[in-house]
Amino acid sequence: MIDVRRAPPADGPAYLALVTALADFEHLPPPDAEAGARLLADAFADPPRYELWVATLDGAVVAYAATFATYSTFRGKPSLSLEDLFVHPDARRRGVARAVLARLRAEAVARGCGRFEWMVLDWNEDAQTLYRAVGARPLPQWQLWRVDLP
Ligand SMILES: CC(C)(COP(=O)(O)OP(=O)(O)OC[C@H]1O[C@@H](n2cnc3c(N)ncnc32)[C@H](O)[C@@H]1OP(=O)(O)O)[C@@H](O)C(=O)NCCC(=O)NCCS
Repeated sequence: MIDVRRAPPADGPAYLALVTALADFEHLPPPDAEAGARLLADAFADPPRYELWVATLDGAVVAYAATFATYSTFRGKPSLSLEDLFVHPDARRRGVARAVLARLRAEAVARGCGRFEWMVLDWNEDAQTLYRAVGARPLPQWQLWRVDLP
């Protein structure tokens, strides 16, 4: 059975283990101890600096998603932005990601959002297949721009 919920602090260690596995998947360095501590402090701050969600499969934490609120001036409505979505390799192809995206979509609707959106790496075809399967569409005319800060 799949359950999707906001993560309580007790899920912190399972969450950090999944973040490390995602970094490995994306060929990026995992968060060091200090960054890991910040991730937990920011998730469980009052108010939280981002929203942490976990999915359990038969009671075990197997996936996480991070979201935060943005705003579309064009729509004149808030947006829900998805930062990460990761399902443990042992729990894949059992509908967990589909359940997470459905729960977050419902959350966005409940908050009066006009958009639920996220980015995906161009080589990540598995994720793109998932996103198309849930009705999302790519926006190829947009580029992500960034200033890296110390
Ligand atoms: C992509 C990912 C989130 C999918 O999670 P999942 O729980 O296995 O996905 P689901 O079981 O809910 O799959 C739903 C649908 O998505 C598509 N899909 C998911 N994984 C797929 C894969 N590896 N290959 C092809 N299609 C896939 C299928 O249409 C699938 O439906 P089906 O199983 O009925 O055919 C998971 O593989 C993952 O965590 N990958 C590594 C991290 C990542 O890429 N995150 C997204 C970053 S933007």
